Amino acid sequence: MAVVANTSSGAGDDRIAPVTTLRELALAAAAPAALRAAVRIGVAEALGDTPVPVDQLAKKLEVDVGVLERLLRNLSCYGIFTDTADGVVHTPTSALLHEEHPQSLKYWVLWVTEPWTWELWPHLEHAVRHGGQGLFEDLHGSEFFAHLHRVWPESTEVFNRSQTELSRITSASIANTLNLRDVKTIADVGGGRGYNLAVLLETNPHLEGVLVDLPAVVANPDPRLRPGGALSSRVRVMAGDCLEGIPVEADVYLFKSILEWDDERTVTALRNAVAAGRPGGKVLVVTNLVDDSPEVRYATGIDLLFLLNTNGKRHTMKGITRLVERSGLRLESVRPIKPLLHLVEASIPR
Ligand SMILES: C[S@@+](CC[C@H](N)C(=O)[O-])C[C@H]1O[C@@H](n2cnc3c(N)ncnc32)[C@H](O)[C@@H]1O
Repeated sequence: MAVVANTSSGAGDDRIAPVTTLRELALAAAAPAALRAAVRIGVAEALGDTPVPVDQLAKKLEVDVGVLERLLRNLSCYGIFTDTADGVVHTPTSALLHEEHPQSLKYWVLWVTEPWTWELWPHLEHAVRHGGQGLFEDLHGSEFFAHLHRVWPESTEVFNRSQTELSRITSASIANTLNLRDVKTIADVGGGRGYNLAVLLETNPHLEGVLVDLPAVVANPDPRLRPGGALSSRVRVMAGDCLEGIPVEADVYLFKSILEWDDERTVTALRNAVAAGRPGGKVLVVTNLVDDSPEVRYATGIDLLFLLNTNGKRHTMKGITRLVERSGLRLESVRPIKPLLHLVEASIPR
């Protein structure tokens, strides 16, 4: 396999000729397609600590050696796997594609490259012309999560695993940032399978938690939260739709990476927390803000994907605080939680 220089040209880098930038950008879809193919055929798991000649790798994976070589040649331009005189090896970035890596992003990569995403992207032009309202519903007949759970069960599993992966990366920082010393009960609304809630409960041994999410998600919660699990005595797992109501009274309602749909639904969910809680109770929004993110390509890119699936968005700081106030909450503070997240603290007026 020919060694290819690891170049990341990048739009906005003025050392790169504009013509190169544009050509690379217009063909950038090749990169996530190659990434997805590599994940699906299991390249990351097939590599260990020592180089593997590409023909052996192809044999092990039962794939076409010539095409594998071409795939890896493209990925190596982005620092994903690299070729040495002795064969293919992992880079620190490709190592994150291995399912067993503690910071694995394998399922997140699969999630943002699911087949339905490739069908949605061409509708961006329509969204720009007419807005994203109703776009997914017009294409698929129901709103995104309902369709996901009913029609794309494999994609649902990929999604739930991807959210656990992201939580694995951020939950310790969140637990260190939230001061829950005087809190008895926290409800993690749209808490996925509960990885984040489990870390909060482990960090705060006095705390009780309620996990609320849609039925298809809470059907398979984090093992620590299941009956007999290490945290089961301090947790309730509830199916609920926070747009209909939040069926639990808690001291704190946490919304982490869930209010990234359209403004009306964001306000509805927050108002439902106001209705469920007590005066003086807290509502915490943990979110990746699009205008204060160190990873702007990631934040702005996912913002566009949200536009197409839930008519959602990555909020700006001003945008989310305005919605919090519109919901009848009293805004208390906005501060960063590393990595990539902000915490918006609000309280239910007395
Ligand atoms: C981006 S994920 C975030 C999951 C989790 N909070 C985390 O950060 O790992 C959004 C979550 O909101 C849930 N969700 C979507 N619509 C919901 C609704 N109407 N009521 C409750 N949960 C909902 C999804 O099932 C999903 O688990």
